Amino acid sequence: MKERRSRREFLGASAALVIALASEARAQGGRPRPTPACGEYGVTHPQTPGPFFKPSSPMRASLIEPGIGGTRIVVEGTVMTIDCKPVPRAILDFWQADSQGEYDNTGFRLRGHQLSDDAGRYRLESVVPGNYPGRTRHFHVNVQAPGQPVLTTQLYFPGEPGNQRDGIFDPDLVMKVRDGDGGKLATFVFVLDPAQGRRR
Ligand SMILES: [Fe+2]
Repeated sequence: MKERRSRREFLGASAALVIALASEARAQGGRPRPTPACGEYGVTHPQTPGPFFKPSSPMRASLIEPGIGGTRIVVEGTVMTIDCKPVPRAILDFWQADSQGEYDNTGFRLRGHQLSDDAGRYRLESVVPGNYPGRTRHFHVNVQAPGQPVLTTQLYFPGEPGNQRDGIFDPDLVMKVRDGDGGKLATFVFVLDPAQGRRR
């Protein structure tokens, strides 16, 4: 009898937990927030690469070149392990739409890769990507620690009207963005979980 009551209590508690998680998921737009892995940062979620990735991008931290219009932006941050250690020499391969929402699918305009430095830091100079049909404003990026699986994900902007209409949008992938001299300054910390890459 005692055991049966305990089991009922357990099932009741489990149901309450499920309801609590479901309501949190609704509040977050579909899923619970990840458990913080590194300070305030959870493991960075993977996302689809979409149809416009091209391999063999040039190695460059600045995607600015003649003829590139739009609002300048610097995105910087750190690549970290799940136990919060910086990852030197991680490859970060960025690609994005131009300010009009167009990808360069013949050349390498607004595409480039770089390596994180000895402290795991990266710094991208570019322009704010434009919206295109069905998608809110975003960067694409592949991040790979040496000898580890590739994390493919996307970075988003806060306060964009299109965020809530975009089925791929993930609030945990929103950068911190502020106005700087002559453009925007954005930050994002990548936290890599090697097991996540192996599960995919
Ligand atoms: Fe895209």
